[in-house]
Amino acid sequence: MLNPEIYQKINAIDHTYIPHQKIKLAIDMIQRCLLISESALEPVNFLLTGPAGTGKTTVCNAILSILESESQEFIIRDNKEVPVVNAFYSLVPNPVTIKGIASSMLKSLGAPSPGKGSALDLTYRLGVLLKEFKTKVIILDEFQHLLAKDFGKSNDVRDWVKSIINEFKVPIVLVGTPECETIINEETQLSRRFQYRTQLTSLNLGTPQKRGELTKFSSTLRTLFIKKIGLNGFPNFNSYSKCAPLYVATSGNPSSIVRIFKEATLIAFEDGMNEVKYNHITKAFDTLALPNSDSLSTNPFRLNHSDLVKSINKISGGMYA
Ligand SMILES: Nc1ncnc2c1ncn2[C@@H]1O[C@H](COP(=O)(O)OP(=O)(O)OP(=O)(O)O)[C@@H](O)[C@H]1O
Ligand SMILES: [Mg+2]
Repeated sequence: MLNPEIYQKINAIDHTYIPHQKIKLAIDMIQRCLLISESALEPVNFLLTGPAGTGKTTVCNAILSILESESQEFIIRDNKEVPVVNAFYSLVPNPVTIKGIASSMLKSLGAPSPGKGSALDLTYRLGVLLKEFKTKVIILDEFQHLLAKDFGKSNDVRDWVKSIINEFKVPIVLVGTPECETIINEETQLSRRFQYRTQLTSLNLGTPQKRGELTKFSSTLRTLFIKKIGLNGFPNFNSYSKCAPLYVATSGNPSSIVRIFKEATLIAFEDGMNEVKYNHITKAFDTLALPNSDSLSTNPFRLNHSDLVKSINKISGGMYA
């Protein structure tokens, strides 16, 4: 039986992130939108999209912690000092309704009884709080829930988002899967309000001559694992050939890469070792059900070079000889 402290140690990795190029770009662009919004007549909004596990919520958390660290302000409410909410994060509920989304936002703002009242009441209270706190940004994640079958309600919510941008003048960062682009593009008025956009993608493998994003990400992640967990060693992923099996196993999806590293560390500890070996990585792939892994007939960490190249070509559309 493993010590619970081991799980805590491994999960502590979740509190750090690797600011790879696309993540950095998204964070920089969001900060830029917020700066422009401070003096613009209309708020400048941002749309962040990407497939599952590419790091969208990670970007949201990074923005929240940057803004939280900037603010020390308090306001007096009901004779009590309350910290201002510079930025807040809310999830679009599923099924989506105006009342549901307004109540989720009020809850994130720390409002009492956030679900009490009509949609109109909640929207009014939201406006009052945003003004009181001088909130700089609203982050709305899982916006793809608007693609749900009930189009009538989805359209209402889309109009509501547009109207709160107009009325409350607080910039919004909308976050969701790539389909969110369709929701925004379908309506010119909304599309015009979201002209700054970034799409996060899976990390590329690069070529034998030029290291890809995956090599840099995995090397940094390896160092993080060694330092944060206090491991004596971890396999190297610092070249194209060393990263090739990892790419086939994960298609370059950051979430899947982290999952494999964590599972391999657990298996190493179960083996009574404080060092992760290549066979722990191989076993981790056998243990996990990663997205798309059922399309692979063999564990990529057991494949020979020519079979690896075939699999890489399948994923990336035949770029490698
Ligand atoms: N830049 C990163 N650095 C470190 N870990 C990352 C990074 N990006 C993603 N991850 C890992 O992937 C996991 C999922 O990331 P995140 O929740 O940000 O993805 P998402 O795009 O919001 O996915 P979903 O669409 O499923 O909500 C994180 O918990 C983390 O383990
Ligand atoms: Mg997410």
